[in-house]
Amino acid sequence: MASTTTNKIINKPLRAIPGTYGLPFFGPIKDRHDYFYHQGRDKFFLSKIQKYNSTVIRTNMPPGPFISSDPRVIALLDAVSFPILFDNSKVEKRNVLDGTFMPSTSFTGGYRVCAYLDTHEPAHAALKSFYISTIASRKQLFLPLFRNVVAECFTEIENKLSAKTATANLNDAVSSASFNFMFRLFCNNKDPAETNLGSEGPKLFDTWLLFQLAPLATLGLPKIFNYIEDFLIRTVPFPAFLAKSSYKKLYEAFSANAGKLIEEAEKAGIERSEAIHNIIFTAGFNAYGGLKNQFPTLMKWVGLGDEKLHKEIAAEVRSVVKEEGGITINGVERMSLVKSIVYEAMRIEPVVPYQYAKAREDIIVNSHDDSFQIKKGEMLFGYQPFATKDSRIFEKAEEFVARRFVGEEGERLLKYVVWSNGPETEQPGPENKQCPGKNLVILLCRVFLVEFFLRYDTFEFTYKDIVLGPNVTITSLTKASSTF
Ligand code: HEM
Repeated sequence: MASTTTNKIINKPLRAIPGTYGLPFFGPIKDRHDYFYHQGRDKFFLSKIQKYNSTVIRTNMPPGPFISSDPRVIALLDAVSFPILFDNSKVEKRNVLDGTFMPSTSFTGGYRVCAYLDTHEPAHAALKSFYISTIASRKQLFLPLFRNVVAECFTEIENKLSAKTATANLNDAVSSASFNFMFRLFCNNKDPAETNLGSEGPKLFDTWLLFQLAPLATLGLPKIFNYIEDFLIRTVPFPAFLAKSSYKKLYEAFSANAGKLIEEAEKAGIERSEAIHNIIFTAGFNAYGGLKNQFPTLMKWVGLGDEKLHKEIAAEVRSVVKEEGGITINGVERMSLVKSIVYEAMRIEPVVPYQYAKAREDIIVNSHDDSFQIKKGEMLFGYQPFATKDSRIFEKAEEFVARRFVGEEGERLLKYVVWSNGPETEQPGPENKQCPGKNLVILLCRVFLVEFFLRYDTFEFTYKDIVLGPNVTITSLTKASSTF
């Protein structure tokens, strides 16, 4: 391991932040074309790091004109500068969830929901505490609910594999599982299929998410369509009425079935209507939106490992489950390889790769080599994969090292795993913006691997990286040769 420098050390040479925003209008358009079409996001940042010999640089971030009023950011592209984004005394996180633009609040019933609130706004602490206690009080449900939805997910995949096409899309199967899990968790274990949603829940959320997040995406179409796509999805924001009927159905389903949860919110002082819109946003945008991409990402990296790795995971899972007499939270906690693999997947390909914040005051930010002055009000942007693949922190940073986080030495690196908008060694609270689903997400990823390797010895797959994560197709599953 190399440097362990943090932002607290400021005895480094002060350097002007290199980089340029270019001409108004043309500069942001050029940057976004480079970012989406000419270079792609990694090359976009890498070429700037090389050009300016700095990991803190000025650049524009998409979408730019006319959706964002100001696309100028200071990009933080290493593990030392990145954590300034978590220092809520120095940075403000008001309306910056999606970056330099914010979708209309008409998508969320007119409310600025929790994820858009800054820690200095009183409503943030109230809503965040509500989520933290909601999750804590439903702890007993995590395993039984998730094991059920995962069993359905694997059955669906097996059925598809035995059908004519002989392939199964993992993303579709885990989308349903993620939706069903969150709906049942928040709605008193109600089966969404028995509500007005039927089997449409994931599609309705997808439509609602698409219209909010389209300006940050690309369909990866052939080159000749690039400029048309760019013009169509990044010139003006999509109006919320396009998602209105989808959202209405979701609203009806949650307000009819999340009665207990809504009551808990009202007891915590949150007004009913605000509570329902917040619950939908957390279930749909934060949780469903994150989980449906997290499982394919995890399986992509596990799948890229060889059969030997799969054997080792299966051996660990089966022996612990045998000793414990079943799947238990304690047992999962003892699976050091499974745990390390989940952290490693989150390190190498964090599902939410962008974080934004505005400087509350003039601040000094350090990189490994230099320090930089940021002016009050300037927008900071962290590209997380460059922080978590920083070769001055992680050896073989670009490689998936399954056992990286095993043992004391490995665990010392956990503070650099920051997928949850905070270090893995810290906890979400009302005073910070760390994901309140952090420990739940980690548990679900571990249990997903446990369930998978209890059933199967190994698998084959293909994948295509698209903007919001990999699209994974399972082409074969080998049933477990040994039981526990
Ligand atoms: C793989 C799944 C997930 C990922 C990758 C993820 C990631 C994140 C990230 C990066 C943030 C911070 C965004 C920012 O401010 O820049 C966040 C915030 C949040 N997440 Fe998650 N999350 C996931 C699952 C969940 C789940 C399961 C829940 C709830 C059950 C949840 C609830 C929230 C909420 C309410 C916030 C806003 C926190 C605040 O405003 O202080 N997330 N999440």
